[in-house]
Amino acid sequence: MKYHEWSTELNTDILHLQAAGIHIIVLDKYEVAVDLLESRSSMYSGRPRMAMLTELMGRDFDLSLMDYGGVWRKHRRLAQQSLQATAFKQYRPHLAQATRNLLKRLLDDRDDGNLISHFRQLAAESIMSVAYGIQIQQENDPYVKLAEDTNQGMIIAAVPGRFLVNIFPIMKYIPAWFPGASFKRKAREWYKMTRAMVEVPYADAKRRIVGIIYFSLLTSGTNLQKIEAGEQEDALTEEVLRNTLAVLYAGGSDTTISTMATCILGLLEHPEVLKKAQAQIDGVVKPGHLPDFDDAPSLPYITAIVKEALRWREVTPFGGPHALSTDDEYNGYRLPAGAIVIANVWAMLHDESVYADPFEFDPDRFINPETGKIDYSRARDPELACFGFGRRICPGKFMAFESLWLLIASLIATFDIEKVKEKVTLPSGEEVERTVELTHEYESLLIK
Ligand code: HEM
Repeated sequence: MKYHEWSTELNTDILHLQAAGIHIIVLDKYEVAVDLLESRSSMYSGRPRMAMLTELMGRDFDLSLMDYGGVWRKHRRLAQQSLQATAFKQYRPHLAQATRNLLKRLLDDRDDGNLISHFRQLAAESIMSVAYGIQIQQENDPYVKLAEDTNQGMIIAAVPGRFLVNIFPIMKYIPAWFPGASFKRKAREWYKMTRAMVEVPYADAKRRIVGIIYFSLLTSGTNLQKIEAGEQEDALTEEVLRNTLAVLYAGGSDTTISTMATCILGLLEHPEVLKKAQAQIDGVVKPGHLPDFDDAPSLPYITAIVKEALRWREVTPFGGPHALSTDDEYNGYRLPAGAIVIANVWAMLHDESVYADPFEFDPDRFINPETGKIDYSRARDPELACFGFGRRICPGKFMAFESLWLLIASLIATFDIEKVKEKVTLPSGEEVERTVELTHEYESLLIK
């Protein structure tokens, strides 16, 4: 928000900041992000070096942190091919099963305080079955626990300024026993967890395929068999396969869970939206049935709700940081090689000239009142910004959208969603209405 204020005050779409010798360029307008990150993507697709994560904690396997180049390309190709729209259709039954499991759990557990953990379970079931074919039955599954603990380490280590070694990579050579080198000891702990997260579920899933084959990215296109028989002509090796599968939980869990919660918040604040969506579902889905992906063209209002949640409280206000590989010039500005380039996705998704009343949750902005259909000429599709830009655009965007769509359609079809009526009693004894406050997850992690 501050960056947007500065852009407005200085009347510019591009900000340049410099801190500790690092150049940071913030793009405030969607059109500028497209001009640079998409049209000139061969120069703008790097990632800034994060020594704590990739060189000390063992996250060099993670394609989302890799710099642009051959190694990244091999991993990216696999993620992209497996998760693109047509290929992903094969995994719809996995999402449907996980969503049905969630509905059953919600019927048994009406404590609203558990909603987020049910969403977490849904995301875990979906991702682990799509990636490895592993069926997670219980809460506190050991693989999910491992992935969650590793994620937390990653979130903490990625906070700007939290570890000086990210700014001064030379510090990675300081011995762990040296006073002030506690980051090295922390990194060693996280390293062990990270390696376990990459290797253990993979080895287990591989062992299990010997009997029954549950369709997954591991077995898709007989990925694994081809690798083992040495028949893969392209760059796919077992290491690339194992690394790419291990990245999906980190990329897809918190992002999707947070958007699920945002949808619920929007529906709580706007009961009229829920009623309208329920009426549309009642007119399309036969009694006794649950909505299905085939119903999507007849349920544009559900699509509009999901799109509005992705816009209203976007999960990644700054997208992913890109790194510029060579000096560039744009509209008279000189952009130095090595600069970190950030798209101010928050500003783009709250741009008043594109979205009227941008801070309101209003799915109708995407619906043409005459046809009742989705119409992005009225308000730009938020997916064009919220999943990032150019060659680094989120490869999980179809999976994310489909998971969200099916969950929201199923919840709206089966439940009423209302605010809790009881007030909360504060330690002082005072009774107050429940309110919602957004936090950055890393803040609560750091407080621990
Ligand atoms: C609402 C859900 C999601 C949102 C908002 C989201 C957003 C993003 C963003 C903004 C980026 C950075 C793009 C850039 O650098 O320009 C990204 C990258 C990535 N996302 Fe997602 N994502 C979501 C769900 C998922 C899912 C479900 C998966 C996989 C199962 C996934 C896997 C990845 C990976 C692997 C990358 C790194 C791509 C690269 O660096 O080449 N994401 N995502």
